Amino acid sequence: MTDAAAMTFNLFDQEEKVLESGQALSARLREENADPGLRDGVDQLLEACRKSVREQRRLMRLSDRQQEQLSAVNQELQRRRAEAEQALTRLKEAQDSLIQAEKLASLGALVAGVAHEINTPVGIALASSSHLADATGALGRLFEQGQMRKSDFADYLATAREASALIQGNCERAAQLINGFKQVAADQTSEERRRFRLADYLHEILLSLSPKLRQARAETLIDCPADLELDSYPGALSQIIANLVLNAILHGFGDGRGGRIVIAARLTGADQVALTVADNGTGIPDEIRGRVFDPFFTTRRGQGGNGLGLHIVFNIVTGSLKGHIAVESAPGQGTRFLVEFPRITPQSGPADLGTP
Ligand SMILES: Nc1ncnc2c1ncn2[C@@H]1O[C@H](COP(=O)(O)OP(=O)(O)O)[C@@H](O)[C@H]1O
Ligand SMILES: [Mg+2]
Repeated sequence: MTDAAAMTFNLFDQEEKVLESGQALSARLREENADPGLRDGVDQLLEACRKSVREQRRLMRLSDRQQEQLSAVNQELQRRRAEAEQALTRLKEAQDSLIQAEKLASLGALVAGVAHEINTPVGIALASSSHLADATGALGRLFEQGQMRKSDFADYLATAREASALIQGNCERAAQLINGFKQVAADQTSEERRRFRLADYLHEILLSLSPKLRQARAETLIDCPADLELDSYPGALSQIIANLVLNAILHGFGDGRGGRIVIAARLTGADQVALTVADNGTGIPDEIRGRVFDPFFTTRRGQGGNGLGLHIVFNIVTGSLKGHIAVESAPGQGTRFLVEFPRITPQSGPADLGTP
């Protein structure tokens, strides 16, 4: 029995006793033939007392029932809350795996871009080497038959010089592409911190994106001091740039009209890097500008958009780079993203690339 129940039990006990002694008093008054007025008065008092006890008991029962109902409602509420929390955890997990998938997709886009880019030099080198092999075979046959003239040899020399120059130049170009891409891809997957020159790195990222840029007829300009050196997470930076540039192409120049993307960086007073990515595309309408960083917010669902790009960018900027990001835009006036972060990322816990 609870304290409160024990107390009311005692209270009822006492009231019972009062009633009993009241009844005894009324009986005595009757036996002793007391004044009828007095007897009536006592009886009335007794009746009022009985009523009050009955009423109190009724109220007690009512309050007990209400308490039972309340605790049932509480239990139900707790059950639903647990369910909602579980659903939220599952949703967060789903969101995390979508974000991982999106990050891999942007790496995939880079791989596809480089594979496409390497096709040309490798194709030219291959054609040149088979041309050289044919010419060598033909000259060899003339030589073996003793029919090689001086002019045949001179022609061959010219062909060999031209072919070997083409082979060498194009192999160098392919090697350059592979090296640049190897770094970007390794950075994207390793989440490693290192020192690097921002301008060079920006060029490498844009090189990996060049097939897409060409397709969209997007012109790019990098405006960054050559000696600006960062000690930070290059992988994080390439994710940011790739997402912002691909957004400019998809959303800003989506109508195929082409445009211009300017990536500018400079060092500000407090050893902070101010990086802007600006396009002169369609711009973002006022009513959606505040929502572009929200997960799953997209104006192109089913047409190449899933709304995770800027959410990932936001998380990388604030999480890995310990910086902040803002957007300025007006319809018809292009879009400008401003990212500000420390040139030397402060040491605090492991880098967390984009997981909220
Ligand atoms: N450069 C841009 N120009 C115009 N609109 C943009 C630009 N970048 C982002 N947006 C808007 O912000 C939304 C969210 O971008 P994002 O999170 O990358 O998702 P997604 O690219 O999958 O649509 C886009 O759907 C688009 O409406
Ligand atoms: Mg996007």
